[in-house]
Amino acid sequence: MRIAIIGTGYVGLVAGTCFADSGNDVTCVDIDERKIRMLQAGEVPIYEPGLEELIKKNVREKRLFFTRDLADAVAPAQVVFIAVGTPEGESGDADLQYVLAAAEQIGKAMKQYTVVVDKSTVPVGTADKVREAIRKVTSIEFDVVSNPEFLKEGAALDDFLKPDRVVIGVDSERARKVMGELYAPFVRTENPVLFMDTRSAELTKYAANAMLATRISFMNDISALCEKVGADVDFVRKGLGSDKRIGYPFLFPGVGYGGSCFPKDVKALVATARDYGLELDLLRAVERTNERQKKLLVNKAVKHYGTLEGKKFGVWGLAFKPKTDDMREAPSIEVIEGLIGKGAQVIAHDPVSAHTAKRVFGDRIRYATVPYEALEGVDGLFVVTEWNEFRHPDFERMKGLMKSPVVFDGRNVYDPTRMRELGFTYYGIGRR
Ligand code: UDX
Repeated sequence: MRIAIIGTGYVGLVAGTCFADSGNDVTCVDIDERKIRMLQAGEVPIYEPGLEELIKKNVREKRLFFTRDLADAVAPAQVVFIAVGTPEGESGDADLQYVLAAAEQIGKAMKQYTVVVDKSTVPVGTADKVREAIRKVTSIEFDVVSNPEFLKEGAALDDFLKPDRVVIGVDSERARKVMGELYAPFVRTENPVLFMDTRSAELTKYAANAMLATRISFMNDISALCEKVGADVDFVRKGLGSDKRIGYPFLFPGVGYGGSCFPKDVKALVATARDYGLELDLLRAVERTNERQKKLLVNKAVKHYGTLEGKKFGVWGLAFKPKTDDMREAPSIEVIEGLIGKGAQVIAHDPVSAHTAKRVFGDRIRYATVPYEALEGVDGLFVVTEWNEFRHPDFERMKGLMKSPVVFDGRNVYDPTRMRELGFTYYGIGRR
């Protein structure tokens, strides 16, 4: 099939590359000239394991192309994906200006029956707005489909190529057939394509992210209670997860959820409900718990040291989660701003995110090129992202480098008993 993808962010780039790899002819479009030039030269603007190799392979085999010219890409395409950004609007809702601008341009450029697919995470009712925007500018036949993306950063290719399920909101048999064919290589009976109406598909995406965020905030609340009553959240987590109705994933307490999806999507869902006169109290509490959780490590530090003025701290992990260089809504921002706001100095290490973190912190903190460099002469270490590199460090070496061996473990990476035996003062999240 001939496919055009509008927007080369995380979702657009991964989807485009995976569709090309399954034999389609894919052109990715972006207005950012620098990005397009980079991609044409085989350079990838984001860090995502395996993506660069797969892009290079498909560019070399002439199935994957990059251009700034939307009309050129759309005219011959049978399927056009809209994968542009939906930033947070003024009242917490998703701002649709880029989606609707893309829809209008697609409408003007298409030359034959086209399936236009909303891939961006968009509020309920957006497919109807996209349809209207296109209908205004063309008399050619088309269908609008809602096909939300569930991939996780750091595991994006695997998630896309082997999805748990593909959700497709569609109102016409013709478009349904096209979408079914397109996704056939990625699904088997146990991971089905679920066809539904566009509004249900749009809501499914928000509901999924809100449910996962709720699980995390729930566990963060339980971890706070564990600290009060002297229980260990890691036992509680296992005890819960082993119940098949609950399951293990997304039950890890920590420094709060971040990233480009959960915070924004929970807010947007609350805003959508409010538009319809409904208050989603549960999700507002989920947000409140997350805000509290992002402040937790700094509060623990203040309790420990009395004052942070003049102290120096190491931070391990900057990205909002491992295997990405994405700093969007990263809990490390709240932690580091908290520390420097209270007069402390920070030296941080992240395996791949120094360049994106510099855009956030500039030269207000120092950046260590290796983990141990972030420990030299520090009063304590904050572990904020659970990169594998931090899981089995040389603890004796750590102790030797630190001025005082205090560890604030925001991801429960280490065993509290072992840490104490090794001579560390250890603070975890909800641990005994
Ligand atoms: C998420 C959804 O998982 C994905 O389906 C959707 O398409 C986009 O949003 P992503 O933002 O890439 O994906 O990251 P995810 O792995 O879900 O983690 C989100 C945040 O939750 C991270 O900050 C992570 O550290 C945190 N988290 C996750 C926890 O604090 N505890 C957990 O148990 C799991």
